[in-house]
Amino acid sequence: MAWKTLDDMELAGKRVLTRVDINVPMENGRVTDATRITRIVPTITDILAKGGTPILLAHFGRPKGNPNPEMSLSLIQPALEAALGRDVVFFERPSRADIDALPADTVVLVENTRFSAMEEANDPKMAEFLASLGDVFCNDAFSAAHRAHASTTGVAQLLPSCAGRLMEAELRALEKALGAPERPVVAVVGGAKVSTKLDLLSNLVEKVDILIIGGGMANTFLAAQGIDVGKSLCEHELADTARAIAEKAATTGCAILLPRDVVVARAFKEGAASEVVAAENCPADAMILDAGPDSVAHICQAFGQAKTLIWNGPLGAFEIPPFDAATNAAAAYAAGLSRAGKLVSVAGGGDTVAALNKADAAESFTYISTAGGAFLEWMEGKTLPGVAALG
Ligand code: 3PG
Ligand code: MG
Repeated sequence: MAWKTLDDMELAGKRVLTRVDINVPMENGRVTDATRITRIVPTITDILAKGGTPILLAHFGRPKGNPNPEMSLSLIQPALEAALGRDVVFFERPSRADIDALPADTVVLVENTRFSAMEEANDPKMAEFLASLGDVFCNDAFSAAHRAHASTTGVAQLLPSCAGRLMEAELRALEKALGAPERPVVAVVGGAKVSTKLDLLSNLVEKVDILIIGGGMANTFLAAQGIDVGKSLCEHELADTARAIAEKAATTGCAILLPRDVVVARAFKEGAASEVVAAENCPADAMILDAGPDSVAHICQAFGQAKTLIWNGPLGAFEIPPFDAATNAAAAYAAGLSRAGKLVSVAGGGDTVAALNKADAAESFTYISTAGGAFLEWMEGKTLPGVAALG
C-alpha cells in the first residue's frame, strides 16, 4: 500500500488535521445512527496517545457552499463528545493562533467544510487555509474519499499525510474482498436499478466467480432473456446492456445467478397478499417483490462454496415485510458462515447496511463498510481521489 498510517508519523506536539466523515442521519435534533462517529474514535484516541492534537474537519449534509444552521457540525458535537467520553472544542473558523492557544490534549471540531463553496471546488485557497491550521494531515474519511475536495485531496498535497485507522481498516477489508481475495468469490448485487450499478456489474463480472443479482435489477436481467415480468419494476430499455453484461460474464467465467422463483403481489404494501411462482410465471397484473425460497436455497448453496462474499444491495423490497424474507434468510446464512470462520464477508452501501442490520446479520459479517458512494466506486475499480492523494 502506498500510503502511510498513524504508525509512520511523529505526532508529539503536532496539530493533526484529521478529515473524518461524521455525516450521520439525524431526526429531531438527535443522531439516529452513530456508527460513523464511533468508528473514528480509535483514530482520535491514537492521535492523542501519540501527543498530537486532533483538529477534526468534516462535512455534514449538502449545504452547497452556504452556511446553514441545520447542517452545523455543532449539532453533532454532543454525540461526538459522548462517543469520545471527553469534551470537544468547536470553532466556526479558527485561526492558527486559536489552535496554538489550546492545551495539546484538546480535541477540536471545525464547522462544516461545505459552508464554503471553495470546499467542493477544491479551491487551493481553502486548502492553504486548512493546511495553515495543522502540521500533519490524517485522512480517516474513506466514505468521502470519492470526493476531490479541499479537505480531502487539496490539503493532502500541502502537508505530510497519512491514513487514519478507519481508512486503513476500510482499505484493507476491501483489498481482502476484491483485490487479493480467497476464492471462490461470490458477490451479491441488489437494489432497484441496473442503471445505477452498470460500472459495478461490469467490473465484478471480471473479478468474481459467482455474481448473484437481486432486487429490481434482477427483473431487468430476466426481461432481457425474454421473460415477462408483468408490472414489476424493470428497466426494459437496458435489455441490451443486461445481455452484454451476461455475455461478458460468459467470457470471464463468472456465473450469474438470477432468481429461479419469485414472490409476486398486486400491491406494494405491508402484508399484501403474495404468492411464490417460478421466475418465468409472473402474472401480467402482478409485480415481483422478492426472491423465492428456491432462489434463496440456491444463493445459500453458492455462499457455502465461497470463501469470500461481497454484498451490495438487498435481494427484494426489504423495507416492507414480507418482501424482506429473501434478504433476511440469505443474510442470516452468510452471517452463520462468517461466525464459523468459513467466509470472509464484506458489505457496504447505504441500503445494504440498513438491510443487514434489519436482518440482524451485520454484526456477524467480517467487515461492514461505513461508505455508500465510495464503497461502490472502489468496487467499480475506480481510483478514489482521497486515497490517491495519500500516496
Ligand atoms: C456519504 O454520506 O455518502 C458521504 O458522507 C459523502 O457525502 P456526499 O454524497 O454528500 O458527498
Ligand atoms: Mg452519498
